[in-house]
Amino acid sequence: MTEQAAIDFEAVHGARPSGVWAAPGRVNLIGEHTDYNDGFVLPVALPHRVEVTARRREDGRVRLYSAQGDGTITDLALDGLAPGVVTSWAAYPVGVFWALAEAGHTVGGADLFFDSDVPTGAGLSSSAALECATAAALDDLYGLGLSAPELALVAQRAENAFVGVPCGVMDQMASACCTDGAALFLDTRTLEQRHVPLDLEAAGLRLLVIDTRVKHDLGDGAYAAVRAGCERAAGLLGLDALRDLPAADLTAALARLPRELAPLVRHVVTENQRVVETIAHLEGGRIAALGPILTAGHASLRDDYRVSCPETDLAVEAAVAAGALGARMTGGGFGGSVIALVGAADVEPVAEAVRSAFRSAGFATPVAFTALPSAGARRVA
Ligand code: GLA
Repeated sequence: MTEQAAIDFEAVHGARPSGVWAAPGRVNLIGEHTDYNDGFVLPVALPHRVEVTARRREDGRVRLYSAQGDGTITDLALDGLAPGVVTSWAAYPVGVFWALAEAGHTVGGADLFFDSDVPTGAGLSSSAALECATAAALDDLYGLGLSAPELALVAQRAENAFVGVPCGVMDQMASACCTDGAALFLDTRTLEQRHVPLDLEAAGLRLLVIDTRVKHDLGDGAYAAVRAGCERAAGLLGLDALRDLPAADLTAALARLPRELAPLVRHVVTENQRVVETIAHLEGGRIAALGPILTAGHASLRDDYRVSCPETDLAVEAAVAAGALGARMTGGGFGGSVIALVGAADVEPVAEAVRSAFRSAGFATPVAFTALPSAGARRVA
């Protein structure tokens, strides 16, 4: 552990910590709004991460402090935790204590000090990173012996049932299970996963992440509405989930659906195909071939699924016009971030083209950075 982390922890909690755990944010390469349809996703962990310095407490209390917070300590008894009791950022980590206990694990109290460089409200899964860092710390502190996918499921349960956000499983799986230098191919029905090598540097490429700074919030109802639309469509088609609609039956199925549901179904079915095509290209060493797939994925989210916004549309358009091989919004949408696949020499020109387009449109200045596929949740000290 860095001496600084121990000093910071001790200044807040008055004792030495036992260790430091970290969990990353993510971008999703392709496979958007497919996870709650039992489909495929292909996220990549960011180098940006939440770090939690921690120690056990034996008195059944949880004390949480965030370096990005308002300087106060949230102090709670584990007894009597229930959804709705915590409403601040602390609901994400506290939800993990609750979800572990609910699943029958014996977990006592803890002192926790969080420090994060994952942008918040940017569609980069800062919440999943908070949850997964907490889950990894508690797993070690209390010797639970859970696997990375098990930690992800606990984290998702915390978010769904304790925080009250109806997200799928992608973000927590990405934050818990990703590995350095690879994307995570996940079948969200079977939870089967495969690490698909993604050596951007060897291919002379970069993944440019553009945070549009339009704050996205999955709790505001729009996400729940598209999700409910998919479930209704699956029901009308007599399917368990849209995953079960073969691409060959898509046209016939669309004709049987009400006008407002057909485009949602078209997106999900074609998006699953885009994931499968992407995997084939990656496994064939053709990273540059991902470009047009990303841009087609964005068009589908914009025109069929309708979860993009003027800022994400403009970022994609400007990036592609400036030479990006392809670009798309990533994450839940309604704001958040865009990813662009660009040649190493084009990073700055593409980022500048997006900033300039935003200036002309009167939008806030976006924040752009490159990211290499990074590791999932782990003990770091
Ligand atoms: C958010 C959710 C995920 C997933 C994406 C869309 O990030 O948390 O579960 O549904 O949106 O792909």
